[in-house]
Amino acid sequence: TSAARRLSLLTPSGHLTLGNLLGALRPLVAGQGDHDCFVGVSDLHAMTDGHDPAVLRSRSSELAALLVAVGLDDSTLFVQSRVPAHRQLAFLLECVASTGELGRMIQFKQRRRTNGSSRAALFTYPVLMAADILLYQPHQVPVGEDQRQHVELARDLALRFNRTYGPVFTVPEVAVAPAGARVMDLQRPTVKMSKSSAEPAGVIGLLDPPDVVRRKIARAVTDADTGPGAVRPDREDKPGITNLLDVLVACGGSPDGLSTYGALKRAVTDAVLGVLEPVQRRHAGLLADPAHLEEVYARGEARCREVTAPVLAAAESAMGL
Ligand code: ADP
Ligand code: NA
Repeated sequence: TSAARRLSLLTPSGHLTLGNLLGALRPLVAGQGDHDCFVGVSDLHAMTDGHDPAVLRSRSSELAALLVAVGLDDSTLFVQSRVPAHRQLAFLLECVASTGELGRMIQFKQRRRTNGSSRAALFTYPVLMAADILLYQPHQVPVGEDQRQHVELARDLALRFNRTYGPVFTVPEVAVAPAGARVMDLQRPTVKMSKSSAEPAGVIGLLDPPDVVRRKIARAVTDADTGPGAVRPDREDKPGITNLLDVLVACGGSPDGLSTYGALKRAVTDAVLGVLEPVQRRHAGLLADPAHLEEVYARGEARCREVTAPVLAAAESAMGL
């Protein structure tokens, strides 16, 4: 019996944040028991917009180490560029996709440069993502709302390919991503904390040293309410406090008995540091033992090559190659 396969990709587009940990990585760690999980560092996705080779290399290795440090080592961990089938299948699917449907992708419309030209890879990125998915034949693909249209494209391409060239692909279902906490920026609590934020003051990085974490939480935006009962959730009128309370609870703390913003921030700081400490300790251990990390990713790469080779071969053969 084989557990249902689940595929997740993370793009090395910045330093991982507390939002990524609580919203995405923790649910993945929790799902490892029930699923055959593949978790990839999608370094190719990070090349679809302007990129710097040295920055890409260092972000990719940091992300690879952090995936192990947060406890995803019961998954098959891999780096997308080390499994050539992703790029190979992407070309075949570019022969199935149309420019019209790619032009309708909302993310492309949002991210393309309004002045000057964008990389062609930004336009074809959803096709690469379709290849990422279809190679692993997962039955379900859990995604957030922002990626839903891309998974629907992967479904459309699989159906069209199967109809035109023969039944090669499993058509994946779009599933709701496992629920994790949603963490907002500490300085702008109405937008989500993001690794691609230009303003690091509101973003807690998983590798931020404790004194940096303390300072960022101490400076988090609150509000002018000083009355009794000021520490309470109210997403409309008190987004900063609501976010701090959410983070506190997601990090295992309790909001009981906190009556001042100072006390709330101290409790949040303790809870966040408690969550980051083991991650940072394991990360430091991995940096000291690069051979172990390489072994984890070499093993993942071997399994990915094994799983994807027959799917790529069937697609090539069906298309006349
Ligand atoms: P980022 O905006 O940090 O670059 P991505 O858009 O690459 O993050 O998303 C990576 C994963 O992390 C997704 O599963 C996404 O839902 C999750 N995620 C990103 N930011 C947050 C956040 N602030 N709170 C909760 N989950 C988040
Ligand atoms: Na992003």
